[in-house]
Parts: sequence; C-alpha cells; structure tokens
Amino acid sequence: MSESRTTPDPEPAFVISDLCKTYVTEAGTVKALRGVNLTIERGETLVLLGPSGSGKSTLLNILGGLDAATSGSARFHDLELVGATTTALTLYRRKSVGFIFQFFNLVPSLTARENVALITEIASDPMAPEEALAMVGLSDRMDHFPAQLSGGQQQRVAVARAIAKRPELLLCDEPTGSLDSESGVQVLEALAKVSRDVGATTMVVSHNAGIAAMADRIIRFRDGGITDISANRQKVEPREMTW
Ligand SMILES: Nc1ncnc2c1ncn2[C@@H]1O[C@H](COP(=O)(O)OP(=O)(O)O)[C@@H](O)[C@H]1O
Ligand SMILES: [Mg+2]
Repeated sequence: MSESRTTPDPEPAFVISDLCKTYVTEAGTVKALRGVNLTIERGETLVLLGPSGSGKSTLLNILGGLDAATSGSARFHDLELVGATTTALTLYRRKSVGFIFQFFNLVPSLTARENVALITEIASDPMAPEEALAMVGLSDRMDHFPAQLSGGQQQRVAVARAIAKRPELLLCDEPTGSLDSESGVQVLEALAKVSRDVGATTMVVSHNAGIAAMADRIIRFRDGGITDISANRQKVEPREMTW
C-alpha cells in the first residue's frame, strides 16, 4: 500500500546525475553506466528491471558505497559518493546501508542469531538479533545453522541481518534469484514488511518482471542507462503477485 507516500518527505534520499561507470580491464573497456539520472524519494520502493549485463548491479554497488563511479554525481543527503574517501564510504555503508545479495553469504559456522549479531555488534542503534529474526518470521529458527535452513529461510536470515541496524537504505540484488517461487514470495514478503517497519528506502534489482508489482516505481534498464520509469498506482503485497 502507498499510504506512507501521501505526505512525501521534501528531501529526497538520493539525487543521481549523469552517473557513469567505465570498467577498464585487460580484455577491454566496458561502459557499464552511461549517464544515469534518477531522484529517489525517502521511503519509496523501487524495482529495477533489465537484462543481464545492463548495469543494474553496478548501479546498486555504487549507491551502496561498494564500488566507485567514474564520473557524475550520486548524492545521499549531504554526502557525495562520487569521489568520497574510502573512510567516508565505509562509515556510510556501516550506518546507512543494508545489502541483500542473491547468494545469502551467511557464515556457515554461526547460527542465525549469531549471523545477525555480527552486524548489530558494530551498529550504533541496532535492534536485538531476536527482534530482527522475529520480523522475518524466524523466531523458531534462531539457533539453527545455515545448513539446517532452507534457501528461503537462509535468505530471510540475510534480510534480518540487513535490517537489524535500521538502515535508511535497503539494497537488494536479485534477492530471489536462487530461490523457487514459493520461497521467493516469502522472502519478498519479509522484505516488504521490514522495509515498511523501519521506513527504509528500498531498491530491488531483478530480471524477473513479475516482482514489479511490489514497487512504488519501476525503473527499466538497458545498456547502462534508464529507458523507462513508471509508477504503480497501487502497490501489491508480494503474496498477491503472480510471476
Ligand atoms: N568488475 C568488473 N570488471 C569489468 N567489467 C565489469 C565488472 N563488473 C561488471 N562489469 C561489466 O559491466 C556491465 C554491467 O554489469 P552488471 O552491472 O553486473 O549488470 P547486471 O547486474 O545488469 O547484470 C557488464 O558488461 C559487465 O560485464
Ligand atoms: Mg547483476
């Protein structure tokens, strides 16, 4: 539902202007981003769609402070990410960004609770690991190890880990890419819920157009640039989506 957007915050979360990224490797030069322009409102959910290789992960990694742009501007409130120091980017990631990747990246020797605690120990105002795991419906699995959990449950632990520090930004790169559709729906439901509960600005990258229904806006990507932006008049809960 879009009630939270009826009184939009006047200050956007992100202002992105003419953002470019060129990778130079021995194999040649790749223009991964060719001038991206986008303003992202606080608290909105964006779904980024586009074929493989179109630059979706590159954009997400730059916005999350994991990779550096070649030129242009990406401003998160007062912080300009392009040209920011490594220290500034580390602090930004630690305080403001929660990441969820296709492969869950849990530590196999730690329980669900301990995996979440790894992050909450270095955050400034975290929720308890138990609270984060309850939010994704895993209260009864807190002392299980990753190998004792299904793929969907492992990804929900990753969602709990990402959200436990109450990040302003939640960046999700193909979060259902290695899940069957039923588990994928459960993960997206968990994502939509935690995103709403902490008021996070959320970007979900996918090559699966079926998930577009959960977005406030849908960004279509091709060849390193945005080809289309459309708004959903009414967001749909993941469990109501068909894909
Ligand atoms: N570290 C890298 N070094 C060189 N080329 C890269 C690197 N990362 C991505 N690319 C290239 O940049 C382009 C965009 O990649 P990516 O952002 O991963 O696309 P998507 O996530 O949409 O599949 C692709 O051509 C890819 O091969
Ligand atoms: Mg990608």
